[in-house]
Amino acid sequence: MATHLRILHLENSEPDRALVRRALVGGELACTFAYAANRGEFAAALERGTPDLILADFTMPDSSGASALALAQEKCPEVPFLFVSGTIGEERAIESFKSGATDCVLKERLERLLPAVRRALREAAERAQRRQLETQLRQAQKMEAVGLLAGGVAHDFNNALTVVTGYARLLLDHATMPPDAIEPLTQIFNAGTRAANLTRQLLVFSRKQPVNRRAIDLNQVAGEISEMLRRLIGEHIKLELTLSPDPCPAEADAGMMEQVLMNLAVNSRDAMPNGGTLAIATEHITIDDEATRLHPEARPGEFVCLSVRDTGCGIPPENLQRIFEPFFTTKKAGHGTGLGLATVFGIVQQHQGWIELESAVGAGTCFRILLPAAPPAAVVPAHRPAESAAAGGGSETVLFVEDEPAVREFAVAVLRSGGYRVLQAGSGLDALEVWKWHGPRIALLVTDLVLPDGLSGVELAAQLRKEKPALKVVLTSGYTNETIGKEFRPPAGTHFVQKPYQPQVLTQAVRDALDGNHSR
Ligand SMILES: Nc1ncnc2c1ncn2[C@@H]1O[C@H](COP(=O)(O)OP(=O)(O)OP(=O)(O)O)[C@@H](O)[C@H]1O
Ligand SMILES: [Mg+2]
Repeated sequence: MATHLRILHLENSEPDRALVRRALVGGELACTFAYAANRGEFAAALERGTPDLILADFTMPDSSGASALALAQEKCPEVPFLFVSGTIGEERAIESFKSGATDCVLKERLERLLPAVRRALREAAERAQRRQLETQLRQAQKMEAVGLLAGGVAHDFNNALTVVTGYARLLLDHATMPPDAIEPLTQIFNAGTRAANLTRQLLVFSRKQPVNRRAIDLNQVAGEISEMLRRLIGEHIKLELTLSPDPCPAEADAGMMEQVLMNLAVNSRDAMPNGGTLAIATEHITIDDEATRLHPEARPGEFVCLSVRDTGCGIPPENLQRIFEPFFTTKKAGHGTGLGLATVFGIVQQHQGWIELESAVGAGTCFRILLPAAPPAAVVPAHRPAESAAAGGGSETVLFVEDEPAVREFAVAVLRSGGYRVLQAGSGLDALEVWKWHGPRIALLVTDLVLPDGLSGVELAAQLRKEKPALKVVLTSGYTNETIGKEFRPPAGTHFVQKPYQPQVLTQAVRDALDGNHSR
């Protein structure tokens, strides 16, 4: 216990103050004393600042020690309060313990003071730690509950939005659409797309968005997106990119990592309306047992760290607990939805990482994202194949399985307009029935992951492939169901399409699957 202790001593006798000081100083405790000679001075001292420890004589000229104790209990109940008194008497001692005093030490037995102070400080530290753990637990439970709620709503939204944006797109692409319908349809399409983007963020936060993990190098992700970030933050903010000289490999979803960087960069931009510096850095970090104490989620091992530091307005302490909550925003209506950091939080959790945060009002903020490092040899380039503009059509027979009728009708219309022959089913069992009659000519199964009657999309695909190993499969989903696992990886040889999807994304995935191209 080598910390510097600030002790407030309520005592009007100069010789007694000296005796108490002598009993404490030199006992491995580095301490400074502030004195109060009466209740008024004591109250004023508490107003000036909270001490680490309070010592008080019981009998004071203008009042009793009990009233000082009551005041301390009101102002700073967590600070240990010890009576150091000439006389106190058993009855009054018991009374003071009941009112919250930590200990009573008699002036003629001052050798007891140091051990009593040590014990009081140790117990106070334990109480503080327990309080902190409780707060963290409450925070984690709240995030979990909000995540469940958000995920449930987002899933239904996704189905609805697939229909809204999908039909709008179909009509827009229709050659005979009257010109005066184009503008309203475009508005519908754009509003639906914006809503779909929000829904996607909610799904990420609730950790129901599938992660497409590959071994990637964070240096590469940060390097590639930096040009875009530069444009995003504007010319009044200087962007500094400091990449680690060694690779920073992680098993991660490159698109999600870009999203993390974007969300953090946009927040930093908003925090620096009059300009400043945004510094993005990557580094490789080894965390040992000692370092794990600094952060509750930290654990020993090899990690890669992505940090985003700004010289902006900083975050006030009272907001620090709340910034990762969905819909917490300090921005004006229409300027922020409060989903940016919730999304970052969800992504980092899904990658078994954690976030460290430092912020000082007026000085700036630094977010550090730590992710488990992957073995360096595994890294493949993070480039994604370019989207091809033309969506592929074809004439093969497709079995389309989806329980939501509106989504099914829309998708079937899309595939038929691409020239495909489409058979449809609303559940896994229905699909088996269709298969019984038409199996030989079905070239591709497109199925939702979660189906109503107990047979999942993955199980259905496996069952049909037993009969026809060459069957091509495209899985679709608005989220990955808990039973399938939070980290859903599509089985080998299957393609995956995230809802809500646009017509050309569906037809492209169908064409790619049929042609045996790699999934995008
Ligand atoms: N770098 C930062 N500096 C200062 N405050 C920040 C910073 N990053 C986040 N904040 C605070 O945290 C709040 C929540 O951030 P978050 O990104 O979740 O939502 P938002 O930026 O308000 O809205 P959205 O990202 O959905 O557009 C912000 O409103 C802001 O008060
Ligand atoms: Mg934001």
